[in-house]
Amino acid sequence: MTEHSRTPAWNALEQHQRELSSLHLRDLFARDPGRFERFSLHAGPLFLDYSKNRITDETLALLLALAQEARLPEWIDRLFRGERVNDTEHRAALHMALRQQGDTPVLLDGKDVIPGVRQVLSHMRRFSESVRSGEWRGYTGQPITDVVNIGIGGSDLGPAMVVSALDADCGPLRVHFVSNVDGADLAGTLRALDPAQTLFVVASKTFTTQETLLNARSARDWFLAQARDPKHVARHFVAVSTQRDEVVRFGIDPSNMFEFWDWVGGRYSLWSAIGLPIALAIGMDRFDALLAGAGEMDEHFRRSPLPQNMPVLLGLIGVWYANFFGAQTHAILPYDQGMHRFVSHIQQVVMESSGKSVTRDGRPVDHATGTVVWGGPGTNGQHAYFQLLHQGTVLVPADFLAPMESRTPLGEHHRVLLSNFLAQPEALMRGKTAAEARAELERAGLSGEALERLLPHRCFPGNRPSNSLLFQKLDPRTLGALIALYEHKTFVQSVLWDINAFDQWGVELGKQLARDLLAELSGAPERAPHDASTRGLLDYVRRHLQNG
Ligand code: F6P
Repeated sequence: MTEHSRTPAWNALEQHQRELSSLHLRDLFARDPGRFERFSLHAGPLFLDYSKNRITDETLALLLALAQEARLPEWIDRLFRGERVNDTEHRAALHMALRQQGDTPVLLDGKDVIPGVRQVLSHMRRFSESVRSGEWRGYTGQPITDVVNIGIGGSDLGPAMVVSALDADCGPLRVHFVSNVDGADLAGTLRALDPAQTLFVVASKTFTTQETLLNARSARDWFLAQARDPKHVARHFVAVSTQRDEVVRFGIDPSNMFEFWDWVGGRYSLWSAIGLPIALAIGMDRFDALLAGAGEMDEHFRRSPLPQNMPVLLGLIGVWYANFFGAQTHAILPYDQGMHRFVSHIQQVVMESSGKSVTRDGRPVDHATGTVVWGGPGTNGQHAYFQLLHQGTVLVPADFLAPMESRTPLGEHHRVLLSNFLAQPEALMRGKTAAEARAELERAGLSGEALERLLPHRCFPGNRPSNSLLFQKLDPRTLGALIALYEHKTFVQSVLWDINAFDQWGVELGKQLARDLLAELSGAPERAPHDASTRGLLDYVRRHLQNG
């Protein structure tokens, strides 16, 4: 399906949007007492309330018809069966195999991938346990106290997010993440570390990523400045990659390499050996629980009928706003400080997957794809950007997430946090009418011109949609399910938009140009002519470059 605007369901949704756009969510709730019960569901450890959306039963029926038109059930099946759904790279997208519970074979080209997955998991267990227990010793015979993961994008964001979310009870190791090629990242991290007690995990699917390799080389220099003998590198550097030859070329012993496979996309790789820093931080049992939570969501996604399928519903509702209301962004607002890095990870999952403007068969899309994902932890955002959500002119659909139980209980903090988590979606949905605002101002003693002047500023339009996702506690199983939920939601949307969710060619051009510009910064002649702006900037940088 490419010409969406011509399909019956798409046309019907456009027509339906025109009818529904004048309806206020307040009215939808007032006329439908069963709305919350009907528009909410459980999946594993998650409970989703999607009743505060600008939808009716008819909207859902039409969106489900759109999903059928796009042959979503068939695509879900193709994904799980290991078909090469990433057809521009001729690869399957089988990250679900990494977290599959049970030994049901997952075939790729007739070969079961599960034994290989389990082998790497055992290697991760042996290694992480020996480092955590102190059995693994550095070159001076001392145990490891600090782990530095060097990676970027999918080789950084997911593991860093999970570690910061689940590491509250502080394991035996401090786990750090270095990603930016800005030397401040590496230097700042290493400043307080002792090379004799530091282990580096160099994580790169391709093992060609410029930033990661440069950071890894600088880390090795730092290490050897003290350790001297290159043979000590083996006790302090391990690699996670799909590219054994590149790892060897870099100088890491292949027995210190943790393998994964090209059917694991970078942004879907935290479930693979890329999760090694997670296992080092929280222990392999809890890493297994993370996998199990994601596996549970996979089963839900694969087996549940579309109307009771959480990733499908979230995907459809997202399409409803993106394509029929023109919403260009989507906010994710976890009311859990531990999830402060959650949005950055999901942002990569969504924006690298959905930032496409041609269909699977290469024709320009005739509809919007993707949304800008942004957000951050509540309540902080309430005192920063929520003003625009409440009274701005753009529609920002939002997901509110919260645990019922705090992992760090402190007086009445959690109750206050949850009261805010409940209040914001309600405020966005209800708004404040002119009559309500007037009554409030009168109660405050205002009248006449003073009141009239303030009145427009004190009204809130409301009718702003949100989903609420609740869970008991941010434990590994729940976090696994949450991440998998957003992964699958992203896949659902890619099917509806007829785009490939698993490639990312758009990041290549900048990398190519940066390679040329690096040479040109060192005096090489222009490889290809630059525009006047880039040439001007290049000249400026050349004249002013310091310490480079
Ligand atoms: O440049 C984008 C990207 O390829 C991401 O898709 C990926 O997660 C990241 O770079 C890191 O890639 P690698 O793991 O190969 O170093």
